[in-house]
Amino acid sequence: MKQTEIADKSVSYGSYRLSVAPMLDWTDRHCRFFHRLMTQRAMLYTEMVAAPAVIHGPRERLLGFHDAEHPVALQLGGSDPAELAQAVRLAVPFGYDEFNLNVGCPSDKVQSGCFGAVLMQRPQLVADCVAAMIAESPVPVTVKCRIGVDDQRPEEVLPAFLETVAEAGVRHFVIHARKAWLQGLSPRENREIPPLDYPLVVTMKRRFPELVICLNGGVTSLAEAQSLLDQGLDGVMIGRAAYNEPELLLGADRLWGDQPPRDLGEVLAAMRPYIADHLAAGGRLHQITRHMLGLFTGRPGARHWRRLLSEGAARPGAGLDLFDQAVGEMQSRAA
Ligand SMILES: Cc1cc2nc3c(=O)[nH]c(=O)nc-3n(C[C@H](O)[C@H](O)[C@H](O)COP(=O)(O)O)c2cc1C
Repeated sequence: MKQTEIADKSVSYGSYRLSVAPMLDWTDRHCRFFHRLMTQRAMLYTEMVAAPAVIHGPRERLLGFHDAEHPVALQLGGSDPAELAQAVRLAVPFGYDEFNLNVGCPSDKVQSGCFGAVLMQRPQLVADCVAAMIAESPVPVTVKCRIGVDDQRPEEVLPAFLETVAEAGVRHFVIHARKAWLQGLSPRENREIPPLDYPLVVTMKRRFPELVICLNGGVTSLAEAQSLLDQGLDGVMIGRAAYNEPELLLGADRLWGDQPPRDLGEVLAAMRPYIADHLAAGGRLHQITRHMLGLFTGRPGARHWRRLLSEGAARPGAGLDLFDQAVGEMQSRAA
């Protein structure tokens, strides 16, 4: 299948307008299942999985996901075209809706393997990587990048990067609207210290109207997302705000003109059988509820909810009764 045909599939999902960012240790399958209950529309990204891990690692554990999570994109890390192609080939049977290449992550671990943000300096290598991925993929291959690294001039390198990578067949970019500094900043600082440049990303959309351009970085509300869409961008990706205050996602489908699929009570009720299945299969309560700690942020009882679940759910043998207790207490506060 050619990229243009593939892109249409994704357009029919209409998933560009909002997405939840790939976040290591955070956006695992349980987190995505929970997020999906609040938005039918947003694209959900996996944590980054390194291509060699897909090839040599415990594949089912790394790549398996629940049918209800669609549309879901697998983010891969790597810089070896053959390895990335093999990772895509092995991941295709899992049924992902998109493959994304990470060209934005600044962590040392990632740099030493020459992948992540350091690849902003090697657009032709990125082009080779995505071409190899596209050759194996029945779904769109997309790229998440920064506006530049270190002393690069973003207004020069970013358009050149987009052009080179688009020539290889990518038409959908997610741009984290700040540089990554490859030395001297921790990954966390690299998400906070380099200044955001939204106008540059908006300019990229004007310059390349045929490309799908989504903005990422520092967006904390759906109103902000809407105002960026109003400036012509195709989509907005939200990371930390969606994770830390997941209730934000309950309004997300309004960006498509849809009503939320459920209210908060229904979301909690729908988590119950999912948690029960996980426990029955030998899983721990905490593996799921850790993603739900921020759920009542800003509401009375939020701290109690967080404490009850973070302390109690990690204890061996913690079960549905603890979840029911926490939900029951929040419901009686709301009543
Ligand atoms: C805990 C955590 C883990 C992250 N892991 C990844 C990752 O695996 N791949 C990636 O491309 N970005 C990763 N990021 C960066 C986010 O995808 C996003 O680009 C960044 O947080 C900025 O968006 P935000 O301001 O909406 O959070 C991570 C961010 C956080 C907070």
